[in-house]
Amino acid sequence: MKLLVTGGAGYVGSVCAAVLVEQGHDVTIIDNFSTGNRDAVPGEARIIEGDVADKAAEILGEGGFEGVIHFAARSLVGESVDKPDEYWQHNVVTTLKLLNAMRESGVKNLVFSSTAATYGEPDQVPITEDMPTQPTNPYGATKLAIDYMITSFAHAYGLGATSLRYFNVAGAYGNIGENREVETHLIPIVLQVALGHRDKIFMFGDDWDTEDGTPVRDYIHVRDLADAHVLALKSNESGNHRIYNLGSGDGYSVKQVIDMCRKVTGHDIPAEVAPRRAGDPATLIASSEKIKRELGWNPTRTDLETIVSDAWNFTRQLGDKAHSAKRS
Ligand code: UFG
Repeated sequence: MKLLVTGGAGYVGSVCAAVLVEQGHDVTIIDNFSTGNRDAVPGEARIIEGDVADKAAEILGEGGFEGVIHFAARSLVGESVDKPDEYWQHNVVTTLKLLNAMRESGVKNLVFSSTAATYGEPDQVPITEDMPTQPTNPYGATKLAIDYMITSFAHAYGLGATSLRYFNVAGAYGNIGENREVETHLIPIVLQVALGHRDKIFMFGDDWDTEDGTPVRDYIHVRDLADAHVLALKSNESGNHRIYNLGSGDGYSVKQVIDMCRKVTGHDIPAEVAPRRAGDPATLIASSEKIKRELGWNPTRTDLETIVSDAWNFTRQLGDKAHSAKRS
C-alpha cells in the first residue's frame, strides 16, 4: 500500500514505519523533527520535513495514497497540564487539517495513535472500550476530542478509521527505541540511571491508592503495538470508526518496574520518593480483548522482563554511541 505516516520519526511512529517498510509497503513519512530522530527513520522511506498542518494537503494531493497512520502529536501528560494551548493546537487543529486533506484527496483509510489517557481515572480495571472517558489532563482531552472528530467524519464522509488507545508503550525494536532529547518516561529514565547518566530515579509519590503506594501502569511492547497498526490499516471499512485498547493486561507499579530494571541491568538503581506529578492517575490497566477478538491481534512480548531487556539493549547501544562520539 502507498501510505503516509505522520510523525514517523518519533518512537512509536518509526518502529511502525520500519515494520511497514519490511512488509513491502511504500511509506512516506512527514515529521518536523521537533522530537523525532533522523536516525530512526527507515532508509527505504521517503521523508518530508515539515508540519502536518502545512503539508498534508500537498502531499496527499499527489494522489495514490491508500492510507494514513497519524502519530504526529504532543504526547506528554505533565507538559499538557502546563501548556494546554500547544496540545489543542498541535493535536486537535492539526488533525482537523489532516482529515480535511484526506477528504479532499479521497483517502479514506486512517489509523490514529490515541491513548489510555482518554479514560482518565477509571472506576475499575481492566479498562474496556465502553467505559466512561473522563480525561484527567489536557493531553487525554485532546486525543478524545479527535476521536469525536474522526467518528463524525466517518459518518458524514465515509472515512474508515481505527483509533488505537495505547497504554504505556516501552521496549525497543532493533536499533529503534526511546531516544528523546528531554526524557520523561519511567523505563528510559530508570535505565539511564543504570547506565550512569543519572544519579537516581525520582518516584512521583508513594501515597497513591495502590498496593505499594506507587502508580500502576500496563506496559506494552512497541513491536507488538506496531502489529496492531498494520491489522487496523488492513481491516478499516469506509463509514466505520473503531476504537481499541492496547496493553498487555498486567499492571506494574513504579517500584516493580524499578525492581525489574535492577534485575535486568544488575545495577542497584538508587530511588527516591518525590512529590506527585500533576495529571497522573493512580492505576491504568487495559483490556485488549476486543482487538484480539475482532482483528486477531496476538501480542508476543507481553512480559515486563522482555520489554525491559529490549529497552536495556537499546539504551546500552545509545550509551556506546554517545561515548564514541565524545572520544572522536
Ligand atoms: N514516573 C516516576 N518517575 C519518573 C517518571 C515517571 O515516578 O521519573 C511515574 C509516573 O508518575 C507514572 C509512571 O511512572 O506514574 C509512568 O509514567 P510515564 O511518564 O512513563 O508514563 P505516563 O503513564 O505518564 O504516560 C504514558 C504516555 C502517555 C499515555 C499513558 C497511558 O506518556 O502518552 O502512558 O497509560 F497516555
